[in-house]
Amino acid sequence: MRITIGDIKDMKKRGEKIPMLTAYDYSTAKLLDEAGVPIILVGDSLGMVILGYESTIPVTMDEMIHHTKAVVRGTRRALVVGDMPFMTYYTSTYDALKNAARFIQEGGAQAVKLEGGEFVAETVRRLVECGIPVQGHIGLTPQSVHQLGGYKVIGKSREVAARLLSDAKALEEAGAFSIVLESVPAPLSKLITERVSVPTIGIGAGKDCDGQVQVISDLLGLFTDFVPKHAKQYARLAEEIRRALAEYISEVRAGGFPTAKQSYTMDESIIEELAHSS
Ligand code: KIV
Repeated sequence: MRITIGDIKDMKKRGEKIPMLTAYDYSTAKLLDEAGVPIILVGDSLGMVILGYESTIPVTMDEMIHHTKAVVRGTRRALVVGDMPFMTYYTSTYDALKNAARFIQEGGAQAVKLEGGEFVAETVRRLVECGIPVQGHIGLTPQSVHQLGGYKVIGKSREVAARLLSDAKALEEAGAFSIVLESVPAPLSKLITERVSVPTIGIGAGKDCDGQVQVISDLLGLFTDFVPKHAKQYARLAEEIRRALAEYISEVRAGGFPTAKQSYTMDESIIEELAHSS
């Protein structure tokens, strides 16, 4: 049985922390699912860590659906959340419904995530009314990087902190099943977490959120362009991959790979016969 949004909300009620991670492909999603990760986000971070774009802004619906399908195929238990890309839900409620429906119907996801607070609350309400579970995302919203003037901490001033609090309340009231808090000062995340009944999931938002989310490529040390302050590398797979590649290249060059173990045999008499004919 797949984990439901009700199960996620119950985790907050029980005080059980929620580990959420991103995935973009079948094999990784399968590992996450087997490890018991309850929420897998097909994040639009895909654009940066998989597709090599400079930001998440160029990511398209078709790219997201392609990767969502792969992640869904790799999972049996996790709740899969599809991240709605830039400008696919602000232009109209119709666009938001149409694009969110693609994640559910074509992609096979069980929920969508979108960035923004009070100003997207009506859209969230409509999606939820139409049966599409929504995860909110406030604080640093990377799709607005140009408006924000860079990737920075959001909510240090009294005014912005108060706005984030009312954004979280607005998303809760609109029916969001959880809210991602990105790059928010830890004491403010704690207050928001205490004030809303739905789980908060932090990334660079301190330890008091109900859950944590990390980009899998950061956690595994696979993405080497930069390491965000909020990321912890639990493995250094880029180094391991470099080591494996160097060994492979040197074995191929020296004739050490493949050996008999990686080769196929056949009836030698057939080869003898072929070699002596013509
Ligand atoms: O795209 C993404 O990976 C995200 C997470 C950082 C929350 O939005």
